[in-house]
Amino acid sequence: EAALGRGRDLAGVRLLVSAGGTREPIDAVRYVGNRSSGRMGYAVAARAAARGAEVIVVAANVALPDPPGARVVRVGTAEELRQACGSAFAEADVLVMAAAVADFRPADPAGGKIKKDGREGLTIELESTVDVLRELSAARRPGQTLIGFAAEHGEGALEHARGKLRRKGLDGVVLNDVSQPGIAFDATDNAVTIVTAEDERVVARAAKEQIADAILDRVLELRAAAS
Ligand code: CTP
Ligand code: CA
Repeated sequence: EAALGRGRDLAGVRLLVSAGGTREPIDAVRYVGNRSSGRMGYAVAARAAARGAEVIVVAANVALPDPPGARVVRVGTAEELRQACGSAFAEADVLVMAAAVADFRPADPAGGKIKKDGREGLTIELESTVDVLRELSAARRPGQTLIGFAAEHGEGALEHARGKLRRKGLDGVVLNDVSQPGIAFDATDNAVTIVTAEDERVVARAAKEQIADAILDRVLELRAAAS
């Protein structure tokens, strides 16, 4: 019903969305992962498609039905996500980076299954991954709108989000306070603050589809102001 008020206000906009959480192999059967379900990114994709955008979703380990009207590219690791986003980025007008991308990955994943016999414990060395959003931002062209997410826990959240906005050269950061119970990870609801250079706008707790619409509304406003 929200679509009625907005119509097809995203017609002609090409949107690239990343969603889900990457998994970095430890061995042939285990991985380092995170709690992202992909719901927020999929909601952005579904709402954008309903509002007329041409949508590509890079989905990292998402176990949800495809968002109607969007093209889905499936990936596993941060490096695969980097490749997929890198291929689609130049053709996109808007990037919404909702995926939880691993910051670190096992430096030397085992080819087989690590066995426990004869071990007192196990230490896994991790190495840094590439910051995909930062890399894409460095390659951005005029007319592109870049939105990041910031999952922060409690105190200093807004400052951290502002720092990410600046450091990564973004137009907006969607701040998620992951310390609030019942929202964010694997929930159907969310509550966010949309941080831009201009201001911070609080979007009160609502279904992720409504949060998605609020993010897309802000994207349209930013694009109107920039043109
Ligand atoms: N991101 C990315 N590539 C990474 C890590 C993060 O593209 N290797 C993106 C995320 O998709 C998100 C934004 O950067 O849109 C911020 O991610 P977040 O984890 O909140 O921030 P980091 O910069 O990774 O810092 P930290 O985890 O230490 O808070
Ligand atoms: Ca991170």
